[in-house]
Amino acid sequence: MGRSDLSLAEAIAEQVHPALPEDPAVFAERLQLFPSGCLLLAGDSVCSGYAIAHPWRLSRPPPLNTILGQLPDGADTFFLHDLALLPAARGAGYAGIAVRLLAQRARAMGLDAMSLVAAGTSHAFWRHIGFRPLELDGVADAAVATYGASARAMVWRF
Ligand SMILES: CC(C)(COP(=O)(O)OP(=O)(O)OC[C@H]1O[C@@H](n2cnc3c(N)ncnc32)[C@H](O)[C@@H]1OP(=O)(O)O)[C@@H](O)C(=O)NCCC(=O)NCCS
Repeated sequence: MGRSDLSLAEAIAEQVHPALPEDPAVFAERLQLFPSGCLLLAGDSVCSGYAIAHPWRLSRPPPLNTILGQLPDGADTFFLHDLALLPAARGAGYAGIAVRLLAQRARAMGLDAMSLVAAGTSHAFWRHIGFRPLELDGVADAAVATYGASARAMVWRF
């Protein structure tokens, strides 16, 4: 993903996550802070998905729609902020490919875990990939709740 692709990613997010909106500044900041964690699924004439991840602290998932400011020292997870495909692009293996690619990048940085907040009905997908529920403290639970009532923190330890 490059800066000129940000509006494409935002348009996909509007379609896929209408109940969990995030400001354009959030997308732009993630790309600026950690460009190699931002992927776009681009075909010949259409973009149909994106993934955004960055190093972070396992115990402190960022609340939804939050500007981070900077990446932390001593990151211990690759936080998968979002993975979203338009319906027409689902079921073809692209999401699995994106997660494996991001996991490779995490390992190359010396990180031994990926984590995320599973929103909506995505828990089963994440479990299939290898993620498991992550127990957190009350402060973190409040951050997780900003992703919706059914949201759950999950971790995949490599
Ligand atoms: C979640 C999402 C990215 C999955 O995309 P997808 O195209 O269906 O996934 P893939 O085709 O790459 O599937 C990868 C693997 O997961 C499995 N899988 C897909 N959906 C699954 C589900 N709901 N439950 C269990 N396994 C699932 C596939 O069978 C495949 O398994 P395999 O590698 O063993 O063959 C997509 O459905 C989506 O964008 N949903 C809306 C946004 C969303 O919920 N994002 C997550 C926010 S936290």
